[in-house]
Amino acid sequence: MSQLLVRRSHRVQPHRPYQVFSLPDDQEYDYDPANPDPIAHINFSQDIDLLLIVPATANIIAKFANGVADDFLSSTYLASTAPVMIAPAMNTTMWEQPATQRNIQRLKADGVHFVEPVAGELACKTVGTGKLEDVENIVSQALKVLSEKTKKVIKENIEAGRNGDFALKNDLSGERLLITVGGTREAIDPVRFISNHSSGKMGFAVAEAARDRGAEVTVVCGVTAVEPPNGVAVINAVSAREMFDAVMKELANATVFVGAAAVADYAPTNAADAKIKKENQDKLILELKKTPDILSEVSKRRKKGQLVIGFAAETNEVVTYAKIKMGKKDLDMVIANDITKEGAGFNTDTNIATILTRVGSEIELPLMSKRALADRILDEILKIRAA
Ligand code: C5P
Repeated sequence: MSQLLVRRSHRVQPHRPYQVFSLPDDQEYDYDPANPDPIAHINFSQDIDLLLIVPATANIIAKFANGVADDFLSSTYLASTAPVMIAPAMNTTMWEQPATQRNIQRLKADGVHFVEPVAGELACKTVGTGKLEDVENIVSQALKVLSEKTKKVIKENIEAGRNGDFALKNDLSGERLLITVGGTREAIDPVRFISNHSSGKMGFAVAEAARDRGAEVTVVCGVTAVEPPNGVAVINAVSAREMFDAVMKELANATVFVGAAAVADYAPTNAADAKIKKENQDKLILELKKTPDILSEVSKRRKKGQLVIGFAAETNEVVTYAKIKMGKKDLDMVIANDITKEGAGFNTDTNIATILTRVGSEIELPLMSKRALADRILDEILKIRAA
């Protein structure tokens, strides 16, 4: 039987920016009397970035080639507009059959990508062509198709001038942004943690705007209330330490670092291995230690030409504290905002900020969407580059 693997851009593990849905062999979904959703293949097929069939049998290839839709997988194929990649595996004679080869040619003409099988020992214990290609190779070819798709979508958007009110240009092409986003969680024990109210909206707005302007974007993502935008690489990091490690690993590849995460300043010195019991304890004293300052360390390690940008969320004397921060952390730019103001700060779609730069400019901005602010920040990056 064939297996269906679908990848789409959501949060996942480091260096695996796609989520994989796997269809087990024995599951039918559609046409299964036990399944209450009569159009599961439609609902499922609209939300995928790549339909990857590994391994694909001669039978499913024949169905795809002829538009047969009599099970979940073949119906999904017909209902989906996502790119399709097929990695066949079968007995050599079945592979070489003119019927199979004819079906493959037809699918190639329809734009389907193939990862051809290789020679080797087959499941039927014979030796010949029909063995599934190495999984690593299949994954790397799948990622290539996904990145081509992302580029194509962005190009179409740019050409059509789409994406709300925002001008889509290519003025950040060649820049590689590394952005920390969201809050971190510092474990007290396996159940409890210390965290903050960060939603991730500001960092994701910068990521989205940079993507639309042609930059390559990687987000190191803590805990967020919203999903990352499509078309950016996502690395998950829950604690400040994990975020620090992920950033340092990626830093060499970045041309601009933006610290938009609300990194916890303190973490429990020793997280308990087992749940701390409350019985017989009226007080619980936690010892906290300072977390590593990611932004300061990035600034220290920066290479020539790398820009380092931070945020300063304050409750009073906002600009004064932000300027001190810019000096102390040696930043090229800091975006200061007063989180006590209506429409600014955590979990809102808007912000009120002042952009301060190393060379002394001070741009006080009115209330605007986080996405609009993101574009203003990127405009200032371009001004620094031009200077
Ligand atoms: O020092 P403070 O937390 O006010 O500075 C805020 C800026 O520093 C933000 O850009 C935030 O992402 C960054 N930061 C960091 N690592 C920390 C603390 C803050 O990168 N441990």
